[in-house]
Amino acid sequence: MPATRPDQAFSARLDEAAAATERLLDRLLTTQPEDGEIARPARLVEAMRHGSLNGGKRLRPFLVLESAALFDVPHQQALMAGAALECIHCYSLVHDDMPPMDNDDMRRGRPTVHKAYDDATAILVGDSLLTFAFDILSRPETHPDPALRIALVSALARASGVGGMAGGQMLDLAAEGRFGKVRHGEKEVLQLQAMKTGALLHFGCIAGAILGKASPAQHEALSRYGKALGTAFQIADDLLDLEGDAATVGKAVGKDAAAGKATFISILGPDGARARLRELVADADSALSVFGERGQMLRQTARFVAERRS
Ligand code: IPE
Ligand code: IPE
Ligand code: MG
Ligand code: MG
Ligand code: MG
Repeated sequence: MPATRPDQAFSARLDEAAAATERLLDRLLTTQPEDGEIARPARLVEAMRHGSLNGGKRLRPFLVLESAALFDVPHQQALMAGAALECIHCYSLVHDDMPPMDNDDMRRGRPTVHKAYDDATAILVGDSLLTFAFDILSRPETHPDPALRIALVSALARASGVGGMAGGQMLDLAAEGRFGKVRHGEKEVLQLQAMKTGALLHFGCIAGAILGKASPAQHEALSRYGKALGTAFQIADDLLDLEGDAATVGKAVGKDAAAGKATFISILGPDGARARLRELVADADSALSVFGERGQMLRQTARFVAERRS
């Protein structure tokens, strides 16, 4: 199956997924459940909204929607799982931008949460978005079967925690040499990026398989696709840091090399990283062969990830 460039139908579908995710997050953050909560502090809700609404490509919810569409999963179920994943992603960005981590002032073209509010509020926004993700997944609106909801909770917890995104962020900081001198080769960078970025994108791809009760072969195909896509995504992010334009990207650029970040660019150079990106897109494409024509939207997604400018 030849690799497919993102076309207008793809852009329209991505825009629609982003808008639907935005509407759902807005509703979930506005509506207080009837039981189990006493009050939601206005400042914290407002800061959570700053960190999660009005921006972002919403690529992770899109992956949930498109992987779920392969199995004709009801749209609302996929949207709920996508919103949960986006909450984890937004929390990871809020903390990633804070002074002890990457110390960034701009995110999605606006001030970062700790800049718009303060450090303590930003920590609590992260805590609250992280836990909100599991609140969302555990609701019957996500899936009527509690066993299936637990499967989603377990997979998202693993993708987010010490063996996933948070662990990868630790490796990312350690690779800067903050905690002592380290040597990082290709194997270490691959591992670090698979965890800090890949794990959440991978969850986006297998969430559809979980919701759709996919066969082991279908699950495996989406898992392979998700791994290739995750690595490709961070290489594209690192290339944008090197070559992108801050106004278009919506965040500061040109910081990774100065901070001593371990990336494929620091190891292979920009041309080597671009060559690797092409190989990963080809691998993502071929992983989808079991889905035939139905995999076209996800094939275009891999292209989009590699060629994006923001
Ligand atoms: C940025 O992710 C952080 C990384 C994992 C590299 P995105 O590029 O998906 O950010 P938004 O959500 O579109 O702002
Ligand atoms: C962040 O990677 C990955 C996360 C888990 C948030 P980066 O630090 O490269 O992401 P940006 O460039 O700040 O978006
Ligand atoms: Mg970082
Ligand atoms: Mg950062
Ligand atoms: Mg980056």
